[in-house]
Amino acid sequence: MTNFVFGKTKDGENVRAWRLANSRGAHAVILDYGCIVQALSVPNAHGGFTDVVLGYDTVAEYEDNDGYFGAVIGRIANRIGKSEFTLNGKTYRLAQNDGKNHLHGGVKGFDKFVWEARQEGNALVFTRFSPDGEENYPGNLRVSISYELTEENELRITYDADTDADTVINLTNHSYFNLDGGGTVLNHYLQIFADEFTENDEGCLPTGRFLKTAGTPFDFSEPKPVGRDIEADDIQLKNGHGYDHNFVLSDKVELKKAAVLYSPKTGISMTTFTMLPGMQLYSANWLTPRKGKLGSLIDRRYAICLETQMFPNALAIPHFPNVVLKKDEHYHSVTIYRFDTTV
Ligand code: BGC
Repeated sequence: MTNFVFGKTKDGENVRAWRLANSRGAHAVILDYGCIVQALSVPNAHGGFTDVVLGYDTVAEYEDNDGYFGAVIGRIANRIGKSEFTLNGKTYRLAQNDGKNHLHGGVKGFDKFVWEARQEGNALVFTRFSPDGEENYPGNLRVSISYELTEENELRITYDADTDADTVINLTNHSYFNLDGGGTVLNHYLQIFADEFTENDEGCLPTGRFLKTAGTPFDFSEPKPVGRDIEADDIQLKNGHGYDHNFVLSDKVELKKAAVLYSPKTGISMTTFTMLPGMQLYSANWLTPRKGKLGSLIDRRYAICLETQMFPNALAIPHFPNVVLKKDEHYHSVTIYRFDTTV
């Protein structure tokens, strides 16, 4: 594992990039700013390598552009309705940064900090102390995020956290995957191991209802091209401007297969495993044209995000799995993105 200076934040903080590699030639470049996966180069079926994540060449672009490219999101990934929640009788008001709702940890979430970094065996470990009251969330939280690139061409992300007072937590990674390295992803095949997804209102906020995927554009029980039904006349697709929905996985707290994404062009397949009960499928509906790494073009629907998570808006919906982390409880979850050239 090596590291090098990647650039500086606007506040003058140094940002370092860490390079992880395995003996099969795969490598990842990960920034201490936002724990961002800046590059992830994996073998393709044609004997070469493809960088399967979208991103930028400079810190300034990560700071200035929307989209949370490649970053870790916290304390609460996804949305909190009306930007408030009540815990132990006290109401916490959060930044409204998505209409009236709160999105991805607020104005300065975990994606916008430089983290402490160290190597531990094959793992790159980032740690951060998030003080009580940061973005108005309660409790001092110590967070650790570790990345490992295994010999099986897996990017393994391990999330751990501890708090000194009851708080709320839902961590994810917001990588934009493109198994062709660029261009539209509407031709990628996707399979999701879920029979239901959570219904959204027009602000992409779960209502609390579960909808069956069978027979709808959300049916990914067999692999199908992402673009096949994306323009279907469907109120849920209209609400999300495409796919921007949380799929309900098995609620077993163990690593399970959540999805397989496959590109017929490069022959790369990416299998997602997670311990969490939910996964947001986001088809990059809000991406506007912009310059990406090495002069590449980033545009609408040029990526798929598979954000493993607790359910969005869980704080307002009692029958959703719990996102409260109590004092002295430990938060732990693992997500794996595994890359193969056969399915
Ligand atoms: C959300 C989208 C949002 C995007 C921001 C996704 O996790 O579900 O609605 O636009 O993040 O990049």
